[in-house]
Amino acid sequence: MGRLRTLLIYLSTTLIFSFLTLSSADDSAAMAKLLASFGTAPSGWSATTDCCKWKNVNCDGSNRVTSISLASQSLTGILPSDLGTLTQLTTLSLQGNSLSGPLPSLANLTSLQKLYLDNNNFTSIPSGFFQGLISLQILSLSQNLDLAPWTISTELTQATSLVTFYASNANIIGSLPDIFGSFPSLQDLRLSYNNLNGTLPKSFGGSGIQNLWLNNQQNGLSGTIDVLSSMTQLSQVWLHKNQFTGPIPDLSNCTSLFDLQLRDNQFTGLIPASLMSIPSLRNVSLDNNVLQGPYPQFPSSVTNHTLGSINSFCKNTPGPCDPLVTTLLEIASAFGYPIKLANSWTGNNACTGWTFINCDSQGSIITINFAKQQFVGTISPVFAKLTSLRNLYLNDNNLTGSIPDALTNMTSLQVLDVSNNNLTGLIPKFGDSVKLTTTGNPLIGKNTPSSGSGGSSPSGSNGTSPSGNPAGMGSSGTSVSHGMIAGIVIAVMIFVVVVLFVSIKCYVSRRHRKFGRVENPQNGKEVVKSIGITGGVSNSNGYGGVPSELQSQSSATGRVTTKVDVYAFGVVLMELITGRRALDDTMPDERSHLVTWFRRILINKENIPKAIDQNLSPDEETMESIYKVAELAGHCTAREPYQRPDMGHAVNILSPLVEQWKPTSHEEEDTYGIDLDMSLPQALQRWQANEGTSTMFNDISYSQTQSSIPSKPSGFADSFDSMDCR
Ligand SMILES: *[C@@H]1O[C@H](CO)[C@@H](O)[C@H](O)[C@H]1NC(C)=O
Ligand SMILES: *[C@@H]1O[C@H](CO)[C@@H](O)[C@H](O)[C@H]1NC(C)=O
Ligand SMILES: *[C@@H]1O[C@H](CO)[C@@H](O)[C@H](O)[C@H]1NC(C)=O
Ligand SMILES: *[C@@H]1O[C@H](CO)[C@@H](O)[C@H](O)[C@H]1NC(C)=O
Ligand SMILES: *[C@@H]1O[C@H](CO)[C@@H](O)[C@H](O)[C@H]1NC(C)=O
Ligand SMILES: *[C@@H]1O[C@H](CO)[C@@H](O)[C@H](O)[C@H]1NC(C)=O
Ligand SMILES: *[C@@H]1O[C@H](CO)[C@@H](O)[C@H](O)[C@H]1NC(C)=O
Ligand SMILES: *[C@@H]1O[C@H](CO)[C@@H](O)[C@H](O)[C@H]1NC(C)=O
Ligand SMILES: *[C@@H]1O[C@H](CO)[C@@H](O)[C@H](O)[C@H]1NC(C)=O
Ligand SMILES: *[C@@H]1O[C@H](CO)[C@@H](O)[C@H](O)[C@H]1NC(C)=O
Repeated sequence: MGRLRTLLIYLSTTLIFSFLTLSSADDSAAMAKLLASFGTAPSGWSATTDCCKWKNVNCDGSNRVTSISLASQSLTGILPSDLGTLTQLTTLSLQGNSLSGPLPSLANLTSLQKLYLDNNNFTSIPSGFFQGLISLQILSLSQNLDLAPWTISTELTQATSLVTFYASNANIIGSLPDIFGSFPSLQDLRLSYNNLNGTLPKSFGGSGIQNLWLNNQQNGLSGTIDVLSSMTQLSQVWLHKNQFTGPIPDLSNCTSLFDLQLRDNQFTGLIPASLMSIPSLRNVSLDNNVLQGPYPQFPSSVTNHTLGSINSFCKNTPGPCDPLVTTLLEIASAFGYPIKLANSWTGNNACTGWTFINCDSQGSIITINFAKQQFVGTISPVFAKLTSLRNLYLNDNNLTGSIPDALTNMTSLQVLDVSNNNLTGLIPKFGDSVKLTTTGNPLIGKNTPSSGSGGSSPSGSNGTSPSGNPAGMGSSGTSVSHGMIAGIVIAVMIFVVVVLFVSIKCYVSRRHRKFGRVENPQNGKEVVKSIGITGGVSNSNGYGGVPSELQSQSSATGRVTTKVDVYAFGVVLMELITGRRALDDTMPDERSHLVTWFRRILINKENIPKAIDQNLSPDEETMESIYKVAELAGHCTAREPYQRPDMGHAVNILSPLVEQWKPTSHEEEDTYGIDLDMSLPQALQRWQANEGTSTMFNDISYSQTQSSIPSKPSGFADSFDSMDCR
């Protein structure tokens, strides 16, 4: 008895619930899952209260969660994937807990500004994690030691407002992508203790980064740090424990720099004098490099400097180097201070075992043999100062530029071998005593300007920014959700009809087989029980306007009142038609409460087209359907519960709107007068007629609902007899 009706009610309740989830009108489901995911509940969180009332949770006027702050609460557990559905979230603070497992995707949380996930035990970052985080300002992932190795995705470029990016001790591998032109506001970049490799990206140049922490990479970042000279906002630079090479660049434009940690790298060359004159500088560490030249003398304003062990200074006190040493360092400078030279060229006497240098007994350099060392750079004219030099081998390197004219002044020179490089320009006129070899330099001797053909710089790119924001990013969000709503309407309507059809078929075949059997009242009870639970969840979904005395009551005598669900269903229908939220604080007062406003619209049918979601852009036929849905919505949200229709009625209104749907299979016999070629409403009506004395549909007047709802100005209940509206 009443079984199909119960089923219908159950079905509609489920539908309401799925409506709410799909249209993301409410966050309580996702929040309930978040709560359930924690080993112990955070203080002030409870499954039985509205999530917007939970401690450290904030919601907006539409009961959407905007911030969750659960720092350092000893939380354990694995975050649920639904976290990504909290689309109004601006702040998520989960740092300082023991959360584990994979991070859920937060892609496309376009409102998210602050994301703190540091000091946890997360195990992986899903691909696409950084997609669409267009409002992100703070991203903190540091101290997640169990993370599976991950790379910094170029998807992060969509976060064009990024100010702070912390991911130290987070198992990052690979190189720093050249995406920093996308972050004009970036100030803090802390990626210490990872396994980053490769070079500093060019796009660091001109950036506003102030704190740059890239120290202690497992295998080490490499290349030069020349780009720092154009990072004028730098204040703290931690690059220690890497594999950087080349000389320290001129940092005189970094006028705020106070802390420069460069120790434990492979820096070579002279310390630029400009470093000593940066007035803001306080802390410098340079030890464990292969720095050359004079021992630096920092001004007293640099309170803390370590130069310590393992460098290649010419002396261990300040003061100029021997002139010969100075000359050789200048030569090395033209090669970019190769590490091979820096490692062995220590001390203040070039004739004490410096590699590639041979001296005579008087301490004059006779031979320099740099052959086959893969040196790059140019031939320094300073060679000319080595007046005693007889043999100079520069062959089989990658030297560019021209042979300096000054070399013709080297009176002792006998052998000059520059073969197999990439030298250009005219060959100077050497005396007959010099054996000159220039073969293997395809471009040499041709009277082309040395900068010539190669120098046209065909780069088409304008500036360093690799185009951050895909066009239309901002607007796509809203149009998608409108499209989605329209899709959901259709999908759910079809779903209603399909499930109804299946249920009817089941019911009919059941009756057929077990005709005359008394139905087990126990089954009915179970169904009602689950209604109670589902109804409870949907009630906590934020339709705060629903009076509590309307809570669904069950007592399997066949009387089940679900007026709350009917009301909520009406609200959802209104939301779908208008594309508006149930409560919208951004609207003027008289329009902010959707139900009140829309019921006023309904008074005059002509108003409806103006009130509906413009994205629906209905044709005439669809408009007729929308009128019916609008009227149903008004009816369902009647002030008095008894004025509201039953769900069965709602289904009856909605199902003809998808009347074209018909079953495709003909094999079933016509039982109880149901012809499967009939449309669903027809079938329902026929079947109801055959039911005869059954009380099942006594309270749903099919003859009335089959005809269109009379459109009366107000008081929709008037058009239904009291049987409809219990
Ligand atoms: C992280 O998890 C490992 C085991 O997977 C455990 O040994 C370790 O203590 C955890 N660390 C934190 C900070 O919870
Ligand atoms: C994010 O949104 C974009 C565009 O709307 C979409 O292409 C992408 O698949 C979404 N990413 C995820 C992970 O949902
Ligand atoms: C950098 O690390 C990645 C991943 O560990 C590796 O595939 C790549 O070869 C490394 N590149 C360099 C230049 O070491
Ligand atoms: C410092 O800035 C000035 C002015 O922009 C510029 O001319 C100069 O080349 C810069 N110095 C360095 C070392 O980059
Ligand atoms: C210098 O470095 C030391 C240790 O690293 C630190 O304690 C101190 O605060 C730094 N001083 C300044 C002025 O940065
Ligand atoms: C200098 O550095 C040492 C260790 O790095 C630190 O203990 C000390 O406080 C620093 N002094 C100043 C004046 O910053
Ligand atoms: C030198 O040039 C050769 C040929 O162009 C190239 O393969 C090699 O990588 C270069 N070596 C260096 C150290 O640049
Ligand atoms: C060569 O030496 C002479 C005399 O010392 C000097 O005048 C001339 O400028 C030098 N040539 C070059 C190219 O340095
Ligand atoms: C030699 O240098 C020219 C530009 O000066 C360059 O285009 C060419 O690739 C270089 N050749 C080699 C083998 O390095
Ligand atoms: C750079 O941008 C300007 C203005 O947008 C444009 O006129 C110019 O052609 C661009 N140059 C290149 C090399 O793309």
